[in-house]
Amino acid sequence: MRLRLLAGTMATVLLIGCSGAPKEAQKTAPAAPQGETFTSGEYTTVLPLGLQAGAAYVPDKNPISQVKIDLGHKLYFDARLSKDGTISCATCHAPEQGFSDGRPTSLGINHQPGARNAPTVMNRLFSKEQFWDGRAADLEDQALGPIQNPIEMGHTLEGMISNVEKIQAYAPEFSAAFGSPGINADRVAMAIASYERTVLAGNSLYDRYQAGDTTALSGSAVRGMNLFNDAQKANCVTCHAGFNFTDESYHNLGVGMDKPNPDWGRFSVTKNDFDKGAFKTPTLRNVTQSGPYMHDGSHTTLLDVVNFYDRGGLKNQWLSKEIKPLHLTDQDRADLVAFLESLTGEVRGAERPALPQ
Ligand code: HEC
Ligand code: HEC
Repeated sequence: MRLRLLAGTMATVLLIGCSGAPKEAQKTAPAAPQGETFTSGEYTTVLPLGLQAGAAYVPDKNPISQVKIDLGHKLYFDARLSKDGTISCATCHAPEQGFSDGRPTSLGINHQPGARNAPTVMNRLFSKEQFWDGRAADLEDQALGPIQNPIEMGHTLEGMISNVEKIQAYAPEFSAAFGSPGINADRVAMAIASYERTVLAGNSLYDRYQAGDTTALSGSAVRGMNLFNDAQKANCVTCHAGFNFTDESYHNLGVGMDKPNPDWGRFSVTKNDFDKGAFKTPTLRNVTQSGPYMHDGSHTTLLDVVNFYDRGGLKNQWLSKEIKPLHLTDQDRADLVAFLESLTGEVRGAERPALPQ
């Protein structure tokens, strides 16, 4: 499967390299491999190398456009969407912290602590369900949650809209983005979601290796990759599958299951007993930047995470059958970490925009 995906990518690269190129250009050394072209509505971009346009999810109700992205970009960074004007989406999903916040669990308005770790906002383009438990159907659905969460941005939608309306420079941007005047919660959500879909991580050393540059990865990272992909060894690929390193599904690794009141995760959405303690498999792209790790931020380093898998997670009634003691050597563990580090690459959408006054 992975090999087929890779072959697909390389075929695309070859096609781009050959199609219509002038004869002279064909004689020179091959150009650096290009990413795939992604299109939604009137918007087209070349994705960072390694990301697959065919896996993008954009709901029909909200095709992407550059004006919508630009508006959403500002709203995402604008703390005036919160009740006391101190917290924006970027407070907890900051570009400098791998679009997370560097804390085990987040702090919202009035320094109130939340219960879960802020996941990265990178590569959301390739996910449908959002949150650790998947309770939001899409990014549009997700975006209005934190604004109204009493311990995150602490506002009401009416209050948030009235704040945005007071910033007069936003009005023409909403008109341009949606084709008619008016500011409402759905439009705020659609603009923010459009921006989020342009926050992308790819073109890592791993991607260059996959595209044919065999010098891109160290020997240790290559060994780690082989362990990662081997069902008889580390078996990571069973869940961290495909180019975005996630099956978009929910699993119980036992994280936090030894707490007196464990977080039931996916169970709170489905009420299926087997979903108790199950959480969404996160992407591993740029994972070096977004620690601490796991839904409760209980693991500080990538080596801590690898050691946890090596122990077979944390035993509990609902533990995934894919999680077993791995009997890794010290070298294996170091190699897995080296591979995880090789997944950090180019980030798009990280600029902090100038906000309207
Ligand atoms: C106070 C910190 C905080 C603020 C502010 C905040 N978030 Fe989050 N965000 C979190 C936490 C914590 C989670 C995980 C919650 C959960 O899974 O239950 C999360 C989850 C998400 C996810 C899901 C990612 C995934 O992989 O499933 C997205 C997308 C997201 N936030 C975007 C936003 C946007 C957009 C805003 C602004 C409108 C925002 N966040 C504001 C802390 C915050
Ligand atoms: C049974 C599915 C499954 C397998 C197998 C698996 N993972 Fe995970 N991984 C997950 C889930 C689910 C989470 C989040 C769990 C939580 O927070 O409760 C996770 C979290 C992580 C994280 C933390 C990422 C973050 O942003 O917090 C890393 C790193 C990671 N896994 C690496 C690995 C490695 C390396 C292996 C192989 C040794 C592996 N995983 C095997 C499902 C899996």
